[in-house]
Amino acid sequence: MLTKIEKISPLSAFAVNNIHESNTLPMDFLSFREKLSLANIGHLRKKMEWKGARLAIKAALESIQLPYPGFYKDSHGKSHTMDGYGFVSLTHHGDLAAAIFHKEMPVGIDLERVREKTVPLGRKYLDPKEMDFLGDDPYLYSLAWSVKETIFKCQGRKGISLRQNILLQPFTKSETVIKGKIYGTDFADHHYSVKVISENDIILTYTVW
Ligand SMILES: CC(C)(COP(=O)(O)OP(=O)(O)OC[C@H]1O[C@@H](n2cnc3c(N)ncnc32)[C@H](O)[C@@H]1OP(=O)(O)O)[C@@H](O)C(=O)NCCC(=O)NCCS
Repeated sequence: MLTKIEKISPLSAFAVNNIHESNTLPMDFLSFREKLSLANIGHLRKKMEWKGARLAIKAALESIQLPYPGFYKDSHGKSHTMDGYGFVSLTHHGDLAAAIFHKEMPVGIDLERVREKTVPLGRKYLDPKEMDFLGDDPYLYSLAWSVKETIFKCQGRKGISLRQNILLQPFTKSETVIKGKIYGTDFADHHYSVKVISENDIILTYTVW
């Protein structure tokens, strides 16, 4: 997947980076707290992923004329803006990192590679109703996984089961927006629309409002 910066609307944007290309870029825009977090990451590849995702969010923010506010993580692992203004979500996979920002609504984003093993693992993260329309296509299973991870990240709390608490409406390979909802928890009846971009064997999904 090519790296890109895309303004979704005046309120929202996303960016995708190659973590090798972004690794040499200056990180002086980070907050003091973030610089500490980065310094504490020992694993080189994790460091590159972390940097790539923060550079992606910086690029997304710039495309809608917003400064980088700095981010902190809550007890669930979800990032929030330091100034309490707007919503963010981050992801990394392979050589890519991506991030999305929305000025007013919670967001989720996920990057996945199409993997054969998503089919035999389907029962762990899919409802039987979903397996009925997915058939046995690894692309559709990987896409369903990515969409559920995106919804999970948008709501942000641990304890939500991909299989039992997130249900997707039927979709096919040609779908560019997939709908899903959270049910069976105190977060029930939240509905989500998730945009799909796939290039070669890479899938990018993110929430749209
Ligand atoms: C948290 C989770 C969504 C991360 O997804 P992942 O595919 O492992 O990793 P990604 O690279 O796509 O995303 C990583 C980012 O998710 C974000 N994240 C972590 N926990 C989060 C949460 N509770 N809410 C929102 N975002 C979260 C972080 O920003 C992290 O990036 P960072 O480490 O650079 O800050 C995932 O591990 C998870 O818990 N999924 C759902 C639980 C589940 O049911 N899993 C197994 C089912 S069989």
